[in-house]
Amino acid sequence: MCGIIGYIGESSAAENLLDGLKNLEYRGYDSAGIALNDNNRLKIFKAAGKLNNLCQIIRTEPRENTVAECGIGHIRWATHGLPNLENAHPHRSADGNLALVHNGIIENYLELRKELSADGYHFTSQTDTEAIVHLIDRELKNGAGFEDAVQNAVRLLDGAFALGIVYRQEPDKLIAVKKNAPLIIGIGQHENFIASDIAALLGKAEKIVRMEDGEIAVIRRGEIKITDFAGKQVMRQPELLQLSAESIDKGGYKHFMLKEIHEQPGIIRALLADGLQIDTGSLRDFNRIEIIACGTSLHAALAAAPLFEDWCRCEVSVQPASEYIYKKQRTGADTLVIGISQSGETADTITALKQAQKSNAQVLVLTNRPDSSIVRYADKVITLQAGIEVSVAATKSYTAQLLRLYQLALALAKDKNFLSSEEISGLHNALRQIPVKIEEILAEEEKIKNVAKKYARFPAMAYIARGQQLPSAMEGALKLKEISYINACAYAAGELKHGPIALLDANMPVAAVLCRQAPTYAKTLSNCEEAKARKAPVIIFSDQIPQGNFDDIVLLPQNCEEFAPLTEAAALQLFAYFIADELGREIDQPRNLAKSVTVE
Ligand code: AGP
Repeated sequence: MCGIIGYIGESSAAENLLDGLKNLEYRGYDSAGIALNDNNRLKIFKAAGKLNNLCQIIRTEPRENTVAECGIGHIRWATHGLPNLENAHPHRSADGNLALVHNGIIENYLELRKELSADGYHFTSQTDTEAIVHLIDRELKNGAGFEDAVQNAVRLLDGAFALGIVYRQEPDKLIAVKKNAPLIIGIGQHENFIASDIAALLGKAEKIVRMEDGEIAVIRRGEIKITDFAGKQVMRQPELLQLSAESIDKGGYKHFMLKEIHEQPGIIRALLADGLQIDTGSLRDFNRIEIIACGTSLHAALAAAPLFEDWCRCEVSVQPASEYIYKKQRTGADTLVIGISQSGETADTITALKQAQKSNAQVLVLTNRPDSSIVRYADKVITLQAGIEVSVAATKSYTAQLLRLYQLALALAKDKNFLSSEEISGLHNALRQIPVKIEEILAEEEKIKNVAKKYARFPAMAYIARGQQLPSAMEGALKLKEISYINACAYAAGELKHGPIALLDANMPVAAVLCRQAPTYAKTLSNCEEAKARKAPVIIFSDQIPQGNFDDIVLLPQNCEEFAPLTEAAALQLFAYFIADELGREIDQPRNLAKSVTVE
């Protein structure tokens, strides 16, 4: 997590850095800071908390103090050290000549700290980053030039790091370093940028150069020189930046999350029209599938897994990436490993896939960011084409993941000949109805809002479901806790009576997700009655009005059991959204969370 940005050009570095950071804020919002390198003055401005606090400081600063055409900026998601001013980036050397921003984690920072302290360096923060500044400073004091000092220092670092560095004595230069953390260079008119993500370059750069791991870029206003850590020059052609600034605009919605929920029918329509766009023929012979993901992406995997089992007769295991890494696996050349990651930067998933690749498994990746790090570990890539998702809570990327997994399962079932062509075309027809069904839910937004408002003041909520609906309940509960901070847990409805029922009373609403076609419909409804009997308010999300006296019913369009998670998702997303909105939460940037989780 964390986001870094750098600017060197002919206009205001401060403005460019703050603009860029605005588009990186989803990567963290514990603190923000910039360093401006003006002729002979290296000025640092930092603020704890959101970017807005920093913007206010800059706004009230006399203009002459913020004049500079070169600088670096940072948005922090705290890993080492509290989210306070001391630990905010940029970090600087004791003489104030060097400033640095960092995204990633330095694994050997404790050893480096010890060594540097023995050399007389005094640490003023608890961060791992400060060790890097002192390392470079030590090289400079030993007589190395700026570029050599950086090169010598980064060779001593273990872990993940994307760095932006400026040096007071050389204001015509910005140095960027990349290893295991995302970093790209943006090229504009007489100006160049560095950024953790393309989002920060939209409307600024016309072309980009993707840095690879183990590279250092020395960036001037009109020149970019890239070398590896050994100093060998690397030649790379710039690519056109295809995305427009509008792709990260709220488009009149109160929050990005609401806008992104509303984008879902259009995205699904486009995905259905485009098809999978990969050749699945070579995957036909796999009978073992392991799906690896985290958070919402993991829920998409859980929802789709039964279809791979049923339609493709594969043995399927779904595992959280962070668990996969440490468990004995039987992944091998006979296994198709599917990694799912919206951002493509999730460290847990990337580490797990690296491991899977070492076991000679075939790796297929589903990601919304074909430019992200995860694709390096993939034999095949399926893109979600959901457009940039700005809200930290995933919505449109979830339904795009579901859709892509359904398309994949159908393609494999066809290749393996386990479903008849009539069955396959029937399922494709059912998928084609989905966008309209989601539109019907969105048209009922006000009704869902009115139901949601009634549940905004409860301290906790239980979600229940069975079978194919259980991942929907898990995702609904995750959405609610992420953006409203209400303690929400999902339970297999049949498990309720084995323990969680002890929690139920008039202060603990139960949200039940049901599909009329599912063989478990009646049983789940009985579990709802059991909850009612304990005085728990019960909200039913179902495609059929249930018999019984429940508190609220959110009626969904009728759907087959397999694809119902798509429509259920839209309703549960809106439900969580309106509860959070009623509570006045910062919906797009919930506390403690970041969109790209680049630490394990
Ligand atoms: C979703 O709302 C969450 N922010 C989070 O669980 C997320 O899905 C998870 O961190 C995985 O992210 P990825 O899909 O980018 O790998």
